[in-house]
Amino acid sequence: MNYILWFGKSVRFLQNLRVLNSFSLLKIITTKAQMQQELAMQQGKSIGFVPTMGALHNGHLSLIEQSKQENDFTVCSIFVNPTQFNDPADLERYPRPVDADLKKLQDANCDLLFMPAVDEMYAKGETWHMDLGDLEHVLEGAFRPGHYQGVTQVVKKLFDIVQPTRAYFGQKDYQQVMVIKKMVETLNLPVSIVRCSTVREQDGLAMSSRNVHLSNEEHQLALTLSSALNAIKESVGVESVAIAIEHAKALILSKDISLEYLVVVDGATLKDISDWNQSKELVALVAAKVGKTRLIDNVVLS
Ligand code: PAJ
Repeated sequence: MNYILWFGKSVRFLQNLRVLNSFSLLKIITTKAQMQQELAMQQGKSIGFVPTMGALHNGHLSLIEQSKQENDFTVCSIFVNPTQFNDPADLERYPRPVDADLKKLQDANCDLLFMPAVDEMYAKGETWHMDLGDLEHVLEGAFRPGHYQGVTQVVKKLFDIVQPTRAYFGQKDYQQVMVIKKMVETLNLPVSIVRCSTVREQDGLAMSSRNVHLSNEEHQLALTLSSALNAIKESVGVESVAIAIEHAKALILSKDISLEYLVVVDGATLKDISDWNQSKELVALVAAKVGKTRLIDNVVLS
């Protein structure tokens, strides 16, 4: 594999990579200072940005593809952000297949990878609070206290560093897109947020970096989540909202799955709805643990 690696103070963890020149090059940088130099070189170009935590799959790559279609220059970041993990064990076991990720980014013709170390992103003892209103306390916010503070903190820092024209996020993390949009609106940030469709395995399982933790048997169990969401979609206008949710929950609870929530909400507020015609965008969202692996998924119903 061929990469250009811009040497910087945080480069030690990349030492095992071979650094070569060839025709197709993925430029890798690790510091804010290098990004400033890069931005100076790309002046006048539109910049598309895809923030990730790595362990890349086709969901991530679809965001890069869309960014490449809509911008002159595409930047991806890989940073496993410690402040958004409320469970230290989850952070510890988060997959980090660096070499495979670099290959995928190179094959996707991504222009630049920003891959900082933790001390490049955070000062010691740094605190942060962003007013996210109700979004912080419902669904993911309720089950992962502090999670969205960590997400907004890192995404704001990344936006400051990369200065993107457009930033791409997956519908897979529906509430995350809402949170980022809320932050952009509140702080008047000069970036357009683009929501991209969820990419699924052929069998329907939403792609996720955490899927590598699923055994074959757990993978089969996990399919119940997308089946339950699809069952709700098929019930729109046929059964009442309450009955549709009850049936979908029964499907999940009949399996060895630990359900955290399954809701049908107004896509603009995440508030429960009782009538299919109640709002413009309706969405069904689910979160559950299959074995030790926590999974989330959603479908837009209207
Ligand atoms: P990560 O889970 O790596 O996801 C990076 C981006 O890929 C997110 O916008 C996510 O919604 C999107 N994505 C994940 N699975 C997808 C799928 N199956 N189809 C389409 N898009 C998908 O989300 C994060 O990282 C972090 O919270 C981050 C925003 C990088 C901040 O640390």
